[in-house]
Amino acid sequence: MKRILWVSSNLHGVTSHSQSIAQRVVDELKSRIPDAEVVVRDVANQPLPHAGAGFVTGRRLPYGEHNADQAEAIAASDVLVAELQAADVVVVTAPMHNFGVPSALKAWIDQIVRPGVAFTYSATGPVGLLRGKKVIFVLASGGIYSEGPMRAFDFQEPYLRAVFSFIGMDDIRVVRIEGVALGEAALARAVAKAHAQVDQVVRELLPIDGSPAERVAA
Ligand SMILES: Cc1cc2nc3c(=O)[nH]c(=O)nc-3n(C[C@H](O)[C@H](O)[C@H](O)COP(=O)(O)O)c2cc1C
Repeated sequence: MKRILWVSSNLHGVTSHSQSIAQRVVDELKSRIPDAEVVVRDVANQPLPHAGAGFVTGRRLPYGEHNADQAEAIAASDVLVAELQAADVVVVTAPMHNFGVPSALKAWIDQIVRPGVAFTYSATGPVGLLRGKKVIFVLASGGIYSEGPMRAFDFQEPYLRAVFSFIGMDDIRVVRIEGVALGEAALARAVAKAHAQVDQVVRELLPIDGSPAERVAA
């Protein structure tokens, strides 16, 4: 577990709950694997183009049969796919935007979910090609969606689970920092719950040296 890819969809300069919780996930993983390499793909501050004509028409063509537009679009997508292929752990940070993921993250997803590269079809249905990776979603929202009346409005976690599983990345853990807009007490509860979830996730992924909570307290 040497390579961590952190896909961040938070804007710099904006106080970000998911960013600070994800930073702790990455720090904990890094403290346990000191030689781990962390690659950050910041899709909010270095936005990717949305899937355009070159990409849409080029994604199903073999290399060598692309026109100039298609070759450029596929080469840009190849860089993102290579980052994902090289990763052992993928941390995805996402604020909820209108019940789903930010459009900047969706642009990244559209560029990596490529036929023949991220998935293929067999006689029995689709097969994900990006296997053997651990995934951690760190999801922030103003309201509460993991339970209660707004649960049916959560198109963030179910969507991310579906699309990552589709490409073979089905070893998924979720840390939620939710209800951050519901007042100070709710925010404090959300932060505490998220930190507990981080402890649990790191303990599950790297069950060595005692729990992160014990080490933080030490
Ligand atoms: C464009 C936009 C849309 C949002 N939509 C929702 C939403 O549908 N539900 C919700 O609970 N919070 C919504 N929020 C609030 C954010 O999810 C919340 O502030 C979250 O903490 C942002 O994540 P961050 O703190 O990691 O930046 C929205 C915020 C923005 C800017």
